[in-house]
Amino acid sequence: MSDYGKKPEGSSAGHAASMDTELRYATEVWTVDPVSPDEELMARAGRILKEGGLVAFPTETVYGLGGDALDPEASRKIYAAKGRPSDNPLIVHIADLDDLYEIASEVPEKAVKLAKACWPGPLTMIFNKTDIVPYQTTGGLDTVAVRFPDHPVALALIREGGRFVAGPSANTSGRPSPTRAEHVYEDLNGRIPLILDAGEVRIGLESTIVDFTEEIPVILRPGYLDEGRLREILGDVKMDPGLVRPDDTRRPKAPGMRYRHYAPKAAMTVVRGERDKVVSAISELTASALSDGKKVGLLLTEETAEDMRDLFGKPAESAASAGVAVSGASQPGGKEDDRSGDITPFITVIGHRDSEDEIAHNLFAALRDFDAAGVDVIYSEAYETPRLGDAVMNRLLKAAGHRVLNV
Ligand code: TXA
Ligand code: MG
Repeated sequence: MSDYGKKPEGSSAGHAASMDTELRYATEVWTVDPVSPDEELMARAGRILKEGGLVAFPTETVYGLGGDALDPEASRKIYAAKGRPSDNPLIVHIADLDDLYEIASEVPEKAVKLAKACWPGPLTMIFNKTDIVPYQTTGGLDTVAVRFPDHPVALALIREGGRFVAGPSANTSGRPSPTRAEHVYEDLNGRIPLILDAGEVRIGLESTIVDFTEEIPVILRPGYLDEGRLREILGDVKMDPGLVRPDDTRRPKAPGMRYRHYAPKAAMTVVRGERDKVVSAISELTASALSDGKKVGLLLTEETAEDMRDLFGKPAESAASAGVAVSGASQPGGKEDDRSGDITPFITVIGHRDSEDEIAHNLFAALRDFDAAGVDVIYSEAYETPRLGDAVMNRLLKAAGHRVLNV
């Protein structure tokens, strides 16, 4: 992004944070080393949190928007910056297992076992809260969501910032979660004092949320830590019924799972079925949308993008008449732009079919790419892969407003 400005070390975002000019910040971006962040910089970032300011920071899953979780005013600022409904609770990030007991009033044995196996890592657990956690942070609930992230920058910020850092994903409410500091800048420039940029995140999909306030632990949000692994460690685990079949009577228990979310601006349809049929359905839909004068975006695996090229063949004329871009080899995460005028779709390759990690990693950035390209409609394959399929499809279906075409 051309206006993605980075200030050198030594600038003074702390000053902006101490001014009471909410949502009118000259947002600073500090480059920090993802493995061993500069101690002085992290101490300064921590000071902003202690003074009630906000700092966007990297975690292994997605970028978070940090504020002091024990300060109701900081939580209020987080909701304001994101444009998030204030009944949608925030996750509290810790950097030491002992700190859990200050904010959770009851921690069942099973949860300790899971924490020992998976923390630090992409796991969030829900407990009954203690009195020190303000209702502003928990969206009015008596429970608190806690996560111990696995990222040196996040951990340093938490330690320097007072040990309890509220951190929703650092996107504008409703948009795809940010996997790069540039995405945070896109959404929150001018609304927060500081972004810590440690490059692209490792995982790209949010943490798995498990509720321990019930007898049998319940998955409230599928995430990078998969159900199979949870079962290995916990034995019995349930899936929130509101996730399996969301309707008016069964609402997801995690408030954030009820909203339309991860949504690109264009209307998106997920095409699901045997791959051959998916390929022909997407080709037909694409050709028809193009002939209606629409700009079309396609979210495809490398293999399907390849099938499309084979199907329509080269030279370009035949592809163009079918409305499919055929030229150029693409990399996962890369895109092929319109190479022959207005009659080809914008293709984003999400990754290789057999690489779940690649697909999970590239999903949110791909959804943002469609906004940048200004497409009118998007067609996507379904990604029902064995381990991360639930988590990826949860995001994809929400992005598509549950518009699915079964072929
Ligand atoms: O990977 C992640 O979890 C990232 C990084 C930054 O740590 N954070 C994140 O936060 O995804 P956020 O706010 O975007 O999503 C938190 C989800 C929301 O759906 C919210 O409703 C739910 O967790 N949640 C938070 N506290 C809860 C509670 N006490 N009970 C039920 N759901 C809760
Ligand atoms: Mg979020």
